[in-house]
Amino acid sequence: MASKTVFLNGGYLPLEDAKISVLDRGFLFGDGVYEVIPAYYGKLFRAQDHWQRLENSLAIVRITNPHSRNEWQAICEPLLDAGKNQYIYLQITRGTADKRDHAFPEGVAPTVFVLCSDILPFAGTQTGIKAVTMDDSRWKLCHAKTIALLGNILHRQEAIDQDCAEAILVKNGYVTEGAASNVFAVIDGVLVTPPKSNAILHGITRDVILELAAQHNIAYREEHITLAQLQAASEIWVTSSTREIIAVVELDGISVGNGAPGPVWHTMNDIFQAYKQSLS
Ligand code: PDD
Repeated sequence: MASKTVFLNGGYLPLEDAKISVLDRGFLFGDGVYEVIPAYYGKLFRAQDHWQRLENSLAIVRITNPHSRNEWQAICEPLLDAGKNQYIYLQITRGTADKRDHAFPEGVAPTVFVLCSDILPFAGTQTGIKAVTMDDSRWKLCHAKTIALLGNILHRQEAIDQDCAEAILVKNGYVTEGAASNVFAVIDGVLVTPPKSNAILHGITRDVILELAAQHNIAYREEHITLAQLQAASEIWVTSSTREIIAVVELDGISVGNGAPGPVWHTMNDIFQAYKQSLS
């Protein structure tokens, strides 16, 4: 099998030859940020939105962006295959210093790694998934897409241990987001999602859904959702770049709506797929 090509620190090379130092701050401290960018028909989906979020994440953690938007685009393009649904995983760490020290090192270039993978069909897309709510144990910089994901990982695993595909996180009585997704609910016929804040990642899929809702006259609000409102919602969705829009059909062991993806999900999923196709 031909080896996969990746990009590391200025050049392309086979995946198995891509190596970083054990002193890299990503390895030692989780000191870095990342992006996940879907690509359909060989084109990055909503590239400018992803570059903007990458710039925001880098600014929050005070890493200088090593590349311009055009350079990032040029780095990613050779990795794409127009015949496949794919996603770019792009990671930047604060680089490799000569010793482990919490303080930022001086004169160290960031480590840049870019990998392209196929988006595999997700079994829950048509059927919906089970989710479980839990207290959000994470920190106050959830709007930065940092590689330090231990909180998210523990939440996702706790969901899987309970035979669920996603954790829906609740902070001070209000829904924040999923372990690796944003959350939508249909409440009294209106599509509701929590407003942007530092408690959630500002999902690009979330933005696209709100844009499409506005264009197609689907009533929506960006508003805080209480746990009780979520439990009473007629539909719940989780959204992300790699899984798109997934209906939650069981929450904490209780059916959501009639236990199948609901009518608003069907409408929005059709609109979303048509929008993707329109970009081909
Ligand atoms: N994660 N919230 C969290 C915590 C996430 O990790 C993600 C996506 C989202 C959705 O954002 P977007 O629509 O831009 O993908 C929300 C990616 C897919 C990941 O970590 O693999």
